[in-house]
Amino acid sequence: MQNKLKRLREWFNNFTTSLLGESDFVDENIALKQCHTMKVCQEMNFLTSKIGIDGDDAVLAEIIALLHDVGRFEQIKRYKTFEDAKSTDHSKLGIEIIDRFGLLNDFNNLEQKIIKTAIAQHNKKKLQLPSDSPEEYLLFAKLIRDADKIDIYRVVINGYKLYMKDPDKFNLAISFKGQNDGKCSPKVVNALLKRESIDYTDLKNINDRKLLQLIWLYDINFTDSLKRIIERGYVDFILSQLPETKDCAIVKETINNYIKERLANNV
Ligand SMILES: [Fe+2]
Repeated sequence: MQNKLKRLREWFNNFTTSLLGESDFVDENIALKQCHTMKVCQEMNFLTSKIGIDGDDAVLAEIIALLHDVGRFEQIKRYKTFEDAKSTDHSKLGIEIIDRFGLLNDFNNLEQKIIKTAIAQHNKKKLQLPSDSPEEYLLFAKLIRDADKIDIYRVVINGYKLYMKDPDKFNLAISFKGQNDGKCSPKVVNALLKRESIDYTDLKNINDRKLLQLIWLYDINFTDSLKRIIERGYVDFILSQLPETKDCAIVKETINNYIKERLANNV
């Protein structure tokens, strides 16, 4: 399995580098996703070692991390956006690329299905696997959803910081809908208070986006992932960036209580 990972890493580097050179915009966004992919691999290795997954399974998990966003590179090149709603489902595109290049030809059937299921599931609002799916499908899908989110927090927080510094120079395809009018949409606040998920289409401004990133916490599968997100200061940063309204005070309390509960129960 190690050799397969090595071969796929080489392929990944060649493939993503081959897409460079069209424009600064595309190049910067490709670099963003190259970096994200490497970090997600690291987060995946952290998680598997914490949870006690080793050997070929740990390598398989890293392969999923390496390939989970492979569709992003063609997405930005073709559509100039990372918004799936405005372009295409990037996990589906990723699987098409995997098939086009025959990347999994030397994996057995079960491994191929585990990898493709995890990739297909990594960007869905909720995990959508039938309850009778093999247990491995669920485990690897949960792992990639967590490893990906841990690093997405890093990316979006860096994005906020860059944007706060100089909105005009902000050149990355992470969208900030609308202006910061100091409000949050009631629909998004309510979803957060009820611990429910929300559609991207319900986000009306940058504050709603911050709330969505707090809502993601409900979907973190492993306590070790949650701890990592908290220890890195990501939750505190997002909470500190919310407007000082009554609604947001309740949001903060809700999130802090949720975290306390999960850490106390270790689930
Ligand atoms: Fe993704």
